[in-house]
Amino acid sequence: ASEAKDYDVIFVGGGVAGYVGAIKAGQEGLKVACIEKRGMLGGTCLNVGCIPSKSLLNNSHLYHQILHDTKKRGIDVGEVKLNLKQMMKAKDESVAGLTKGVEFLFKKNGVDYVKGHGAFVNEHEIRVNLVDGGETQLKGKNIVISTGSETTPFPGLEIDEKKVITSTGAIALEQVPKKMSVIGGGIIGLEMASVWSRLGAEVTVVEFLGQIGGPGMDADIAKQAQKILTKQGLKFKLNTKVTSGDASGDGVKLELEAAKGGKQETLDADVCLVAIGRRPYTDGLGLENIGIEVDERKRLVIDQEYRTKVPHIRCIGDCTFGPMLAHKAEEEAVAVVEYIKHGHGHVNYGAIPSVMYTNPEVAWVGQNEKELKDAGVKYNVGSFPFTANSRAKTNLETDGMVKFLSDKETDRILGVHIIGANAGEMIAEGTLALEYGASSEDVARTCHAHPTLAEAFKEAAMSTYSKAIHY
Ligand code: FAD
Ligand code: NAI
Repeated sequence: ASEAKDYDVIFVGGGVAGYVGAIKAGQEGLKVACIEKRGMLGGTCLNVGCIPSKSLLNNSHLYHQILHDTKKRGIDVGEVKLNLKQMMKAKDESVAGLTKGVEFLFKKNGVDYVKGHGAFVNEHEIRVNLVDGGETQLKGKNIVISTGSETTPFPGLEIDEKKVITSTGAIALEQVPKKMSVIGGGIIGLEMASVWSRLGAEVTVVEFLGQIGGPGMDADIAKQAQKILTKQGLKFKLNTKVTSGDASGDGVKLELEAAKGGKQETLDADVCLVAIGRRPYTDGLGLENIGIEVDERKRLVIDQEYRTKVPHIRCIGDCTFGPMLAHKAEEEAVAVVEYIKHGHGHVNYGAIPSVMYTNPEVAWVGQNEKELKDAGVKYNVGSFPFTANSRAKTNLETDGMVKFLSDKETDRILGVHIIGANAGEMIAEGTLALEYGASSEDVARTCHAHPTLAEAFKEAAMSTYSKAIHY
Protein backbone atom coordinates (compact mmCIF):
# COMPACT_ATOMS: atom_id res chain seq x y z
CA ALA A 1 0.00 0.00 0.00
CA SER A 2 2.94 2.33 0.60
CA GLU A 3 3.64 2.27 -3.16
CA ALA A 4 0.21 3.66 -4.02
CA LYS A 5 0.32 6.65 -6.36
CA ASP A 6 -1.11 9.84 -4.81
CA TYR A 7 -3.89 11.89 -6.39
CA ASP A 8 -5.94 14.96 -5.44
CA VAL A 9 -8.99 13.20 -6.84
CA ILE A 10 -9.80 9.75 -8.22
CA PHE A 11 -12.95 8.97 -10.20
CA VAL A 12 -14.06 5.33 -10.02
CA GLY A 13 -15.99 4.76 -13.25
CA GLY A 14 -15.30 6.45 -16.58
CA GLY A 15 -18.87 7.06 -17.78
CA VAL A 16 -20.22 10.54 -18.45
CA ALA A 17 -20.06 11.34 -14.73
CA GLY A 18 -16.49 10.08 -14.28
CA TYR A 19 -14.90 11.21 -17.52
CA VAL A 20 -16.40 14.71 -17.45
CA GLY A 21 -15.37 15.09 -13.80
CA ALA A 22 -11.84 13.93 -14.58
CA ILE A 23 -11.46 16.40 -17.45
CA LYS A 24 -12.83 19.24 -15.31
CA ALA A 25 -10.46 18.28 -12.47
CA GLY A 26 -7.54 18.34 -14.92
CA GLN A 27 -8.62 21.79 -16.10
CA GLU A 28 -8.72 22.97 -12.49
CA GLY A 29 -5.10 21.89 -12.03
CA LEU A 30 -5.88 18.91 -9.79
CA LYS A 31 -3.85 15.71 -10.04
CA VAL A 32 -6.50 13.29 -11.26
CA ALA A 33 -7.00 9.63 -12.20
CA CYS A 34 -10.03 7.92 -13.70
CA ILE A 35 -10.49 4.17 -13.27
CA GLU A 36 -12.64 2.39 -15.88
CA LYS A 37 -13.08 -1.34 -16.16
CA ARG A 38 -14.76 -1.82 -19.56
CA GLY A 39 -11.61 -0.95 -21.49
CA MET A 40 -13.38 2.01 -23.12
CA LEU A 41 -14.27 5.42 -21.75
CA GLY A 42 -17.76 6.91 -21.94
CA GLY A 43 -19.66 4.33 -19.87
CA THR A 44 -23.17 3.23 -20.67
CA CYS A 45 -23.96 6.42 -22.58
CA LEU A 46 -21.22 6.27 -25.20
CA ASN A 47 -20.82 2.50 -25.46
CA VAL A 48 -24.28 0.96 -25.10
CA GLY A 49 -26.71 3.81 -24.38
CA CYS A 50 -27.38 7.32 -25.69
CA ILE A 51 -25.01 7.25 -28.64
CA PRO A 52 -25.56 3.83 -30.28
CA SER A 53 -29.31 4.05 -29.69
CA LYS A 54 -29.48 7.47 -31.36
CA SER A 55 -27.47 6.20 -34.31
CA LEU A 56 -29.98 3.37 -34.82
CA LEU A 57 -32.94 5.68 -34.21
CA ASN A 58 -31.67 8.12 -36.82
CA ASN A 59 -30.88 5.55 -39.50
CA SER A 60 -33.94 3.36 -38.93
CA HIS A 61 -36.02 6.53 -39.24
CA LEU A 62 -34.38 7.35 -42.56
CA TYR A 63 -35.06 3.80 -43.81
CA HIS A 64 -38.68 3.96 -42.67
CA GLN A 65 -39.14 7.39 -44.20
CA ILE A 66 -37.70 6.29 -47.54
CA LEU A 67 -40.08 3.32 -47.51
CA HIS A 68 -43.22 5.17 -46.47
CA ASP A 69 -42.85 8.92 -46.70
CA THR A 70 -41.28 10.05 -49.97
CA LYS A 71 -44.05 9.70 -52.59
CA LYS A 72 -46.08 12.64 -51.33
CA ARG A 73 -42.88 14.73 -51.32
CA GLY A 74 -42.40 14.11 -55.02
CA ILE A 75 -39.60 11.59 -54.66
CA ASP A 76 -40.06 8.21 -56.31
CA VAL A 77 -37.58 5.73 -54.94
CA GLY A 78 -36.59 2.40 -56.48
CA GLU A 79 -35.96 -0.79 -54.57
CA VAL A 80 -35.11 -0.09 -50.93
CA LYS A 81 -33.22 -2.72 -49.00
CA LEU A 82 -32.12 -2.89 -45.42
CA ASN A 83 -28.44 -3.64 -44.82
CA LEU A 84 -28.54 -4.24 -41.09
CA LYS A 85 -24.86 -5.13 -40.90
CA GLN A 86 -23.90 -1.75 -42.36
CA MET A 87 -26.39 0.05 -40.10
CA MET A 88 -24.70 -1.57 -37.10
CA LYS A 89 -21.27 -0.70 -38.50
CA ALA A 90 -22.26 2.96 -38.82
CA LYS A 91 -23.39 2.84 -35.19
CA ASP A 92 -20.12 1.20 -34.07
CA GLU A 93 -18.09 3.82 -35.93
CA SER A 94 -19.86 6.71 -34.22
CA VAL A 95 -19.25 5.06 -30.84
CA ALA A 96 -15.58 4.34 -31.57
CA GLY A 97 -14.95 7.91 -32.78
CA LEU A 98 -16.44 9.41 -29.64
CA THR A 99 -14.73 7.11 -27.11
CA LYS A 100 -11.37 7.80 -28.77
CA GLY A 101 -12.20 11.50 -28.55
CA VAL A 102 -12.57 11.18 -24.78
CA GLU A 103 -9.18 9.44 -24.52
CA PHE A 104 -7.68 12.36 -26.42
CA LEU A 105 -9.31 14.83 -24.02
CA PHE A 106 -7.83 12.88 -21.09
CA LYS A 107 -4.35 13.30 -22.55
CA LYS A 108 -4.97 16.97 -23.29
CA ASN A 109 -6.05 17.64 -19.70
CA GLY A 110 -3.46 15.50 -17.94
CA VAL A 111 -5.85 12.82 -16.65
CA ASP A 112 -4.32 9.42 -15.75
CA TYR A 113 -6.54 6.78 -17.34
CA VAL A 114 -6.33 3.53 -15.35
CA LYS A 115 -7.94 0.60 -17.19
CA GLY A 116 -9.27 -1.84 -14.63
CA HIS A 117 -11.77 -2.66 -11.91
CA GLY A 118 -11.42 -0.50 -8.80
CA ALA A 119 -12.32 -1.50 -5.24
CA PHE A 120 -11.87 0.34 -1.94
CA VAL A 121 -9.18 -1.09 0.33
CA ASN A 122 -9.77 1.66 2.87
CA GLU A 123 -11.10 5.22 2.91
CA HIS A 124 -8.24 6.62 0.83
CA GLU A 125 -6.91 3.69 -1.18
CA ILE A 126 -8.24 1.85 -4.18
CA ARG A 127 -6.92 -1.39 -5.57
CA VAL A 128 -7.30 -1.77 -9.33
CA ASN A 129 -7.38 -5.13 -11.09
CA LEU A 130 -5.95 -4.08 -14.42
CA VAL A 131 -7.64 -5.09 -17.68
CA ASP A 132 -4.25 -6.11 -19.06
CA GLY A 133 -3.46 -8.23 -16.01
CA GLY A 134 -1.86 -7.48 -12.66
CA GLU A 135 -2.97 -4.84 -10.21
CA THR A 136 -2.08 -1.40 -8.98
CA GLN A 137 -3.04 0.76 -6.04
CA LEU A 138 -4.05 4.45 -6.03
CA LYS A 139 -4.39 6.83 -3.11
CA GLY A 140 -6.77 9.79 -3.26
CA LYS A 141 -7.28 12.87 -1.08
CA ASN A 142 -10.73 12.86 -2.65
CA ILE A 143 -12.52 9.95 -4.32
CA VAL A 144 -15.64 10.24 -6.45
CA ILE A 145 -17.75 7.14 -7.04
CA SER A 146 -19.23 7.27 -10.56
CA THR A 147 -19.95 3.61 -11.23
CA GLY A 148 -23.29 4.14 -12.98
CA SER A 149 -26.20 1.76 -13.37
CA GLU A 150 -27.36 -1.51 -14.91
CA THR A 151 -30.64 -2.93 -16.23
CA THR A 152 -33.09 -4.05 -13.56
CA PRO A 153 -33.60 -7.75 -14.29
CA PHE A 154 -37.05 -9.30 -14.66
CA PRO A 155 -37.36 -12.15 -12.16
CA GLY A 156 -37.39 -15.56 -13.85
CA LEU A 157 -36.25 -14.36 -17.28
CA GLU A 158 -32.55 -14.91 -17.76
CA ILE A 159 -30.89 -12.35 -20.01
CA ASP A 160 -28.90 -13.96 -22.87
CA GLU A 161 -28.85 -10.77 -25.04
CA LYS A 162 -30.08 -12.86 -28.00
CA LYS A 163 -33.63 -13.94 -27.16
CA VAL A 164 -34.17 -12.20 -23.83
CA ILE A 165 -32.43 -8.87 -24.25
CA THR A 166 -31.72 -5.62 -22.44
CA SER A 167 -31.04 -2.40 -24.33
CA THR A 168 -27.50 -3.72 -24.86
CA GLY A 169 -28.83 -6.65 -26.90
CA ALA A 170 -31.38 -4.40 -28.57
CA ILE A 171 -28.66 -2.24 -30.14
CA ALA A 172 -26.82 -5.28 -31.50
CA LEU A 173 -29.38 -7.77 -32.90
CA GLU A 174 -28.03 -9.54 -35.97
CA GLN A 175 -31.40 -9.87 -37.66
CA VAL A 176 -34.80 -8.25 -37.47
CA PRO A 177 -37.04 -10.42 -35.29
CA LYS A 178 -40.46 -11.28 -36.66
CA LYS A 179 -42.15 -10.60 -33.35
CA MET A 180 -40.76 -8.63 -30.43
CA SER A 181 -42.29 -8.11 -27.01
CA VAL A 182 -41.20 -5.26 -24.78
CA ILE A 183 -41.68 -5.29 -21.01
CA GLY A 184 -41.98 -1.65 -19.96
CA GLY A 185 -43.25 1.33 -21.97
CA GLY A 186 -40.68 3.79 -20.58
CA ILE A 187 -38.05 5.60 -22.62
CA ILE A 188 -35.85 2.59 -23.41
CA GLY A 189 -38.88 0.47 -24.32
CA LEU A 190 -40.27 3.08 -26.71
CA GLU A 191 -36.99 4.05 -28.37
CA MET A 192 -35.97 0.44 -29.00
CA ALA A 193 -39.50 -0.59 -30.01
CA SER A 194 -39.41 2.23 -32.59
CA VAL A 195 -36.10 1.06 -34.06
CA TRP A 196 -37.16 -2.56 -34.55
CA SER A 197 -40.69 -1.77 -35.64
CA ARG A 198 -39.34 0.57 -38.34
CA LEU A 199 -37.00 -2.18 -39.52
CA GLY A 200 -39.92 -4.61 -39.87
CA ALA A 201 -40.59 -6.35 -36.55
CA GLU A 202 -44.09 -6.67 -35.15
CA VAL A 203 -43.62 -5.06 -31.72
CA THR A 204 -45.94 -5.19 -28.69
CA VAL A 205 -45.16 -3.01 -25.67
CA VAL A 206 -46.61 -4.05 -22.32
CA GLU A 207 -46.85 -1.26 -19.74
CA PHE A 208 -48.05 -1.53 -16.17
CA LEU A 209 -49.20 2.12 -15.95
CA GLY A 210 -52.09 3.74 -17.82
CA GLN A 211 -49.74 5.86 -19.94
CA ILE A 212 -46.53 5.38 -21.88
CA GLY A 213 -43.28 7.31 -21.40
CA GLY A 214 -42.92 6.97 -17.63
CA PRO A 215 -44.29 9.29 -14.97
CA GLY A 216 -42.43 12.50 -16.00
CA MET A 217 -44.17 12.75 -19.36
CA ASP A 218 -47.26 14.98 -19.39
CA ALA A 219 -50.43 12.88 -19.83
CA ASP A 220 -51.72 14.86 -22.87
CA ILE A 221 -48.41 14.48 -24.61
CA ALA A 222 -48.15 10.77 -23.74
CA LYS A 223 -51.60 10.19 -25.24
CA GLN A 224 -50.59 11.93 -28.48
CA ALA A 225 -47.32 10.00 -28.60
CA GLN A 226 -49.14 6.71 -28.18
CA LYS A 227 -51.59 7.59 -30.96
CA ILE A 228 -48.79 8.48 -33.38
CA LEU A 229 -46.64 5.46 -32.51
CA THR A 230 -49.68 3.20 -32.91
CA LYS A 231 -50.19 4.65 -36.41
CA GLN A 232 -46.56 3.73 -37.12
CA GLY A 233 -47.34 0.10 -36.29
CA LEU A 234 -46.49 -0.33 -32.58
CA LYS A 235 -48.96 -2.23 -30.45
CA PHE A 236 -49.57 -1.28 -26.81
CA LYS A 237 -51.01 -3.09 -23.85
CA LEU A 238 -51.39 -0.51 -21.09
CA ASN A 239 -52.56 -1.12 -17.53
CA THR A 240 -51.06 -4.56 -17.97
CA LYS A 241 -48.47 -6.28 -15.86
CA VAL A 242 -46.08 -8.96 -17.05
CA THR A 243 -46.26 -11.49 -14.24
CA SER A 244 -43.81 -14.11 -15.55
CA GLY A 245 -41.84 -15.18 -18.59
CA ASP A 246 -40.64 -18.44 -20.09
CA ALA A 247 -37.79 -18.58 -22.60
CA SER A 248 -37.26 -22.33 -22.53
CA GLY A 249 -38.98 -22.95 -25.90
CA ASP A 250 -38.24 -21.48 -29.33
CA GLY A 251 -39.31 -17.98 -28.43
CA VAL A 252 -40.31 -16.14 -25.28
CA LYS A 253 -43.74 -16.53 -23.73
CA LEU A 254 -44.95 -13.83 -21.34
CA GLU A 255 -47.85 -14.17 -18.92
CA LEU A 256 -49.81 -10.92 -18.67
CA GLU A 257 -52.37 -9.76 -16.16
CA ALA A 258 -54.53 -6.62 -15.94
CA ALA A 259 -52.70 -4.24 -13.57
CA LYS A 260 -55.68 -4.21 -11.21
CA GLY A 261 -55.84 -8.00 -11.28
CA GLY A 262 -58.26 -10.20 -13.18
CA LYS A 263 -57.87 -10.64 -16.93
CA GLN A 264 -54.95 -12.85 -17.94
CA GLU A 265 -53.39 -13.61 -21.33
CA THR A 266 -50.14 -14.76 -22.91
CA LEU A 267 -47.90 -12.95 -25.37
CA ASP A 268 -45.50 -14.86 -27.63
CA ALA A 269 -42.49 -13.34 -29.37
CA ASP A 270 -39.17 -14.35 -30.91
CA VAL A 271 -37.31 -11.76 -28.87
CA CYS A 272 -38.26 -10.08 -25.59
CA LEU A 273 -36.78 -6.76 -24.46
CA VAL A 274 -36.65 -6.20 -20.70
CA ALA A 275 -36.96 -2.43 -20.10
CA ILE A 276 -38.41 -2.03 -16.62
CA GLY A 277 -35.87 0.50 -15.38
CA ARG A 278 -32.24 0.67 -14.32
CA ARG A 279 -30.63 0.35 -10.89
CA PRO A 280 -27.38 1.71 -9.46
CA TYR A 281 -24.32 -0.47 -9.98
CA THR A 282 -21.81 -0.82 -7.15
CA ASP A 283 -20.88 -4.52 -7.41
CA GLY A 284 -17.38 -5.40 -6.27
CA LEU A 285 -16.63 -1.81 -5.24
CA GLY A 286 -15.72 -2.80 -1.70
CA LEU A 287 -18.21 -0.39 -0.11
CA GLU A 288 -18.33 -2.75 2.88
CA ASN A 289 -14.64 -1.95 3.50
CA ILE A 290 -15.44 1.71 4.15
CA GLY A 291 -18.86 1.39 5.75
CA ILE A 292 -20.78 3.27 3.05
CA GLU A 293 -24.38 2.18 2.73
CA VAL A 294 -26.93 2.17 -0.07
CA ASP A 295 -30.67 2.85 0.27
CA GLU A 296 -33.51 0.43 -0.55
CA ARG A 297 -33.11 1.20 -4.28
CA LYS A 298 -29.34 0.58 -4.13
CA ARG A 299 -28.57 4.32 -4.45
CA LEU A 300 -25.56 5.68 -2.58
CA VAL A 301 -26.73 8.13 0.04
CA ILE A 302 -25.17 11.60 -0.30
CA ASP A 303 -25.66 15.17 0.92
CA GLN A 304 -26.07 18.32 -1.20
CA GLU A 305 -22.36 18.47 -1.92
CA TYR A 306 -22.38 14.84 -3.13
CA ARG A 307 -20.57 13.69 0.06
CA THR A 308 -21.18 10.23 1.45
CA LYS A 309 -20.90 9.86 5.20
CA VAL A 310 -17.13 9.68 4.62
CA PRO A 311 -16.81 13.34 3.54
CA HIS A 312 -13.88 13.03 1.12
CA ILE A 313 -15.72 10.23 -0.74
CA ARG A 314 -18.42 11.65 -2.99
CA CYS A 315 -20.82 10.13 -5.50
CA ILE A 316 -22.43 11.41 -8.72
CA GLY A 317 -24.38 10.16 -11.75
CA ASP A 318 -26.65 7.13 -12.11
CA CYS A 319 -25.47 5.41 -8.92
CA THR A 320 -27.06 8.05 -6.70
CA PHE A 321 -30.29 10.10 -6.52
CA GLY A 322 -31.99 11.92 -9.39
CA PRO A 323 -32.89 11.14 -12.99
CA MET A 324 -30.64 8.63 -14.74
CA LEU A 325 -29.63 10.94 -17.56
CA ALA A 326 -26.26 11.66 -19.13
CA HIS A 327 -26.62 15.43 -18.98
CA LYS A 328 -27.57 15.24 -15.28
CA ALA A 329 -24.40 13.20 -14.67
CA GLU A 330 -22.39 15.78 -16.60
CA GLU A 331 -23.73 18.72 -14.56
CA GLU A 332 -22.94 16.87 -11.33
CA ALA A 333 -19.43 16.07 -12.56
CA VAL A 334 -18.59 19.74 -13.04
CA ALA A 335 -20.25 20.68 -9.74
CA VAL A 336 -18.47 17.99 -7.70
CA VAL A 337 -15.05 19.21 -8.89
CA GLU A 338 -16.05 22.79 -8.08
CA TYR A 339 -17.03 21.69 -4.57
CA ILE A 340 -13.70 19.91 -4.14
CA LYS A 341 -11.61 22.76 -5.51
CA HIS A 342 -13.59 25.86 -4.50
CA GLY A 343 -16.15 24.72 -1.90
CA HIS A 344 -19.19 25.63 -3.99
CA GLY A 345 -20.96 24.26 -7.07
CA HIS A 346 -24.35 24.40 -8.78
CA VAL A 347 -26.90 22.06 -10.34
CA ASN A 348 -30.52 23.16 -10.77
CA TYR A 349 -32.48 19.92 -10.47
CA GLY A 350 -35.66 21.82 -11.38
CA ALA A 351 -34.35 22.49 -14.89
CA ILE A 352 -33.10 19.17 -16.24
CA PRO A 353 -34.65 18.39 -19.63
CA SER A 354 -35.85 14.95 -20.72
CA VAL A 355 -36.00 13.83 -24.33
CA MET A 356 -37.45 10.71 -25.91
CA TYR A 357 -35.88 10.31 -29.35
CA THR A 358 -38.81 8.64 -31.11
CA ASN A 359 -40.43 10.14 -34.19
CA PRO A 360 -41.77 12.61 -33.41
CA GLU A 361 -39.54 13.41 -30.46
CA VAL A 362 -41.01 14.13 -27.05
CA ALA A 363 -39.24 16.58 -24.76
CA TRP A 364 -40.04 18.30 -21.52
CA VAL A 365 -38.57 20.33 -18.69
CA GLY A 366 -40.04 21.35 -15.35
CA GLN A 367 -43.32 20.07 -14.03
CA ASN A 368 -46.27 18.42 -15.77
CA GLU A 369 -49.95 19.08 -15.10
CA LYS A 370 -50.36 16.15 -12.72
CA GLU A 371 -47.39 17.24 -10.62
CA LEU A 372 -48.72 20.81 -10.39
CA LYS A 373 -52.22 19.59 -9.46
CA ASP A 374 -50.80 17.23 -6.81
CA ALA A 375 -48.79 20.14 -5.37
CA GLY A 376 -51.88 22.40 -5.36
CA VAL A 377 -50.22 24.96 -7.65
CA LYS A 378 -52.56 27.15 -9.70
CA TYR A 379 -51.40 27.43 -13.30
CA ASN A 380 -52.29 28.58 -16.82
CA VAL A 381 -51.98 26.33 -19.85
CA GLY A 382 -50.99 27.54 -23.29
CA SER A 383 -50.50 25.35 -26.31
CA PHE A 384 -49.83 25.58 -30.01
CA PRO A 385 -50.16 22.74 -32.56
CA PHE A 386 -47.54 22.19 -35.28
CA THR A 387 -50.42 21.94 -37.81
CA ALA A 388 -50.59 25.75 -37.53
CA ASN A 389 -46.81 26.29 -37.86
CA SER A 390 -45.58 27.28 -41.32
CA ARG A 391 -42.25 25.42 -41.18
CA ALA A 392 -43.88 22.20 -39.94
CA LYS A 393 -46.29 22.51 -42.85
CA THR A 394 -43.53 22.93 -45.44
CA ASN A 395 -41.68 19.99 -43.89
CA LEU A 396 -44.84 17.85 -43.91
CA GLU A 397 -44.19 17.18 -40.24
CA THR A 398 -47.23 18.61 -38.53
CA ASP A 399 -47.74 15.99 -35.81
CA GLY A 400 -47.54 17.36 -32.30
CA MET A 401 -47.69 20.53 -30.23
CA VAL A 402 -45.93 22.74 -27.70
CA LYS A 403 -47.53 23.13 -24.29
CA PHE A 404 -46.61 25.74 -21.67
CA LEU A 405 -47.57 25.66 -18.02
CA SER A 406 -47.08 28.90 -16.12
CA ASP A 407 -47.94 30.24 -12.70
CA LYS A 408 -51.48 31.66 -12.66
CA GLU A 409 -50.49 34.73 -10.69
CA THR A 410 -46.94 35.57 -11.79
CA ASP A 411 -46.83 33.97 -15.28
CA ARG A 412 -43.47 32.38 -14.35
CA ILE A 413 -42.89 29.28 -16.49
CA LEU A 414 -43.33 26.05 -14.51
CA GLY A 415 -43.07 23.47 -17.26
CA VAL A 416 -42.71 23.09 -21.03
CA HIS A 417 -43.81 19.96 -22.89
CA ILE A 418 -43.24 19.35 -26.58
CA ILE A 419 -44.10 16.57 -28.98
CA GLY A 420 -42.92 17.14 -32.52
CA ALA A 421 -40.01 17.12 -34.93
CA ASN A 422 -36.88 18.52 -33.27
CA ALA A 423 -38.51 18.72 -29.82
CA GLY A 424 -35.17 17.60 -28.36
CA GLU A 425 -33.42 20.69 -29.72
CA MET A 426 -36.30 23.06 -28.99
CA ILE A 427 -36.45 22.09 -25.31
CA ALA A 428 -33.10 23.86 -24.77
CA GLU A 429 -34.98 27.16 -25.05
CA GLY A 430 -37.49 26.00 -22.43
CA THR A 431 -34.66 24.92 -20.14
CA LEU A 432 -32.92 28.27 -20.46
CA ALA A 433 -36.20 30.09 -19.78
CA LEU A 434 -36.78 27.99 -16.66
CA GLU A 435 -33.19 28.44 -15.47
CA TYR A 436 -33.53 32.21 -15.79
CA GLY A 437 -36.95 32.24 -14.11
CA ALA A 438 -38.59 33.66 -17.24
CA SER A 439 -42.31 34.28 -17.64
CA SER A 440 -44.33 33.09 -20.64
CA GLU A 441 -44.52 36.71 -21.73
CA ASP A 442 -40.70 36.97 -21.71
CA VAL A 443 -40.59 34.13 -24.25
CA ALA A 444 -43.51 35.42 -26.31
CA ARG A 445 -41.92 38.88 -26.60
CA THR A 446 -38.63 37.40 -27.80
CA CYS A 447 -38.32 37.59 -31.58
CA HIS A 448 -38.15 34.12 -33.19
CA ALA A 449 -36.95 33.62 -36.78
CA HIS A 450 -39.49 32.84 -39.50
CA PRO A 451 -40.19 30.23 -40.72
CA THR A 452 -38.98 27.98 -37.91
CA LEU A 453 -40.54 25.33 -35.69
CA ALA A 454 -39.47 27.51 -32.76
CA GLU A 455 -42.28 29.94 -33.64
CA ALA A 456 -44.66 27.30 -32.30
CA PHE A 457 -42.75 27.59 -29.03
CA LYS A 458 -43.22 31.36 -28.97
CA GLU A 459 -46.90 31.15 -29.83
CA ALA A 460 -47.58 28.49 -27.19
CA ALA A 461 -45.98 30.86 -24.65
CA MET A 462 -48.16 33.69 -25.95
CA SER A 463 -51.32 31.65 -25.57
CA THR A 464 -50.80 31.14 -21.82
CA TYR A 465 -51.56 34.80 -21.02
CA SER A 466 -53.03 36.13 -24.29
CA LYS A 467 -53.96 34.61 -27.66
CA ALA A 468 -51.73 32.99 -30.25
CA ILE A 469 -51.73 34.85 -33.57
CA HIS A 470 -51.82 31.88 -35.92
CA TYR A 471 -54.27 29.58 -34.16
P1 FAD B 1 -22.31 4.94 -16.60
O1 FAD B 1 -22.41 5.57 -17.92
O2 FAD B 1 -23.05 3.68 -16.37
O3 FAD B 1 -20.76 4.72 -16.33
C1 FAD B 1 -20.25 4.06 -15.24
C2 FAD B 1 -18.96 3.39 -15.64
O4 FAD B 1 -18.33 2.90 -14.48
C3 FAD B 1 -19.13 2.18 -16.55
O5 FAD B 1 -18.41 2.35 -17.74
C4 FAD B 1 -18.60 1.01 -15.73
O6 FAD B 1 -17.90 0.06 -16.52
C5 FAD B 1 -17.67 1.70 -14.76
N1 FAD B 1 -17.47 0.99 -13.50
C6 FAD B 1 -18.42 0.47 -12.68
N2 FAD B 1 -17.87 -0.06 -11.58
C7 FAD B 1 -16.53 0.11 -11.71
C8 FAD B 1 -15.43 -0.22 -10.90
N3 FAD B 1 -15.59 -0.80 -9.70
N4 FAD B 1 -14.19 0.09 -11.35
C9 FAD B 1 -14.01 0.70 -12.55
N5 FAD B 1 -15.03 1.05 -13.34
C10 FAD B 1 -16.27 0.76 -12.93
N6 FAD B 1 -29.30 9.45 -21.13
C11 FAD B 1 -29.49 10.62 -21.77
O7 FAD B 1 -29.33 11.68 -21.16
N7 FAD B 1 -29.86 10.65 -23.09
C12 FAD B 1 -30.07 9.54 -23.80
O8 FAD B 1 -30.41 9.60 -24.98
C13 FAD B 1 -29.89 8.28 -23.15
N8 FAD B 1 -30.06 7.13 -23.83
C14 FAD B 1 -29.86 5.95 -23.19
C15 FAD B 1 -30.08 4.78 -23.90
C16 FAD B 1 -29.89 3.56 -23.30
C17 FAD B 1 -30.14 2.30 -24.09
C18 FAD B 1 -29.46 3.50 -21.94
C19 FAD B 1 -29.24 2.18 -21.27
C20 FAD B 1 -29.25 4.66 -21.22
C21 FAD B 1 -29.45 5.89 -21.85
N9 FAD B 1 -29.26 7.10 -21.16
C22 FAD B 1 -29.49 8.29 -21.80
C23 FAD B 1 -28.82 7.13 -19.75
C24 FAD B 1 -27.31 7.40 -19.67
O9 FAD B 1 -26.63 6.40 -20.39
C25 FAD B 1 -26.86 7.40 -18.22
O10 FAD B 1 -27.61 8.32 -17.47
C26 FAD B 1 -25.39 7.78 -18.11
O11 FAD B 1 -24.59 6.87 -18.82
C27 FAD B 1 -24.95 7.83 -16.64
O12 FAD B 1 -23.58 8.09 -16.54
P2 FAD B 1 -22.71 7.53 -15.34
O13 FAD B 1 -21.33 7.99 -15.64
O14 FAD B 1 -23.34 7.88 -14.06
O15 FAD B 1 -22.79 5.94 -15.45
P1 NAI C 1 -38.32 3.59 -17.10
O1 NAI C 1 -38.33 3.68 -15.63
O2 NAI C 1 -38.29 4.83 -17.91
O3 NAI C 1 -39.58 2.76 -17.60
C1 NAI C 1 -39.87 1.46 -17.16
C2 NAI C 1 -41.35 1.19 -17.35
O4 NAI C 1 -41.59 -0.19 -17.11
C3 NAI C 1 -42.24 1.98 -16.39
O5 NAI C 1 -43.15 2.74 -17.14
C4 NAI C 1 -42.90 0.88 -15.55
O6 NAI C 1 -44.24 1.20 -15.21
C5 NAI C 1 -42.84 -0.33 -16.48
N1 NAI C 1 -42.87 -1.64 -15.79
C6 NAI C 1 -42.13 -2.03 -14.72
N2 NAI C 1 -42.41 -3.32 -14.40
C7 NAI C 1 -43.33 -3.77 -15.30
C8 NAI C 1 -44.01 -5.02 -15.49
N3 NAI C 1 -43.79 -6.07 -14.73
N4 NAI C 1 -44.90 -5.12 -16.50
C9 NAI C 1 -45.11 -4.05 -17.31
N5 NAI C 1 -44.51 -2.86 -17.17
C10 NAI C 1 -43.62 -2.71 -16.19
O7 NAI C 1 -37.06 2.66 -17.45
P2 NAI C 1 -36.32 2.29 -18.81
O8 NAI C 1 -37.18 2.58 -19.98
O9 NAI C 1 -35.81 0.92 -18.61
O10 NAI C 1 -35.13 3.32 -18.84
C11 NAI C 1 -34.21 3.42 -17.75
C12 NAI C 1 -33.60 4.78 -17.70
O11 NAI C 1 -32.67 4.97 -18.74
C13 NAI C 1 -34.61 5.90 -17.91
O12 NAI C 1 -35.26 6.21 -16.69
C14 NAI C 1 -33.78 7.01 -18.38
O13 NAI C 1 -33.30 7.71 -17.26
C15 NAI C 1 -32.62 6.34 -19.09
N6 NAI C 1 -32.77 6.49 -20.55
C16 NAI C 1 -32.88 7.74 -21.09
C17 NAI C 1 -33.06 7.91 -22.44
C18 NAI C 1 -33.20 9.28 -22.98
O14 NAI C 1 -32.93 10.23 -22.28
N7 NAI C 1 -33.62 9.44 -24.23
C19 NAI C 1 -33.09 6.79 -23.35
C20 NAI C 1 -33.02 5.52 -22.69
C21 NAI C 1 -32.82 5.41 -21.34
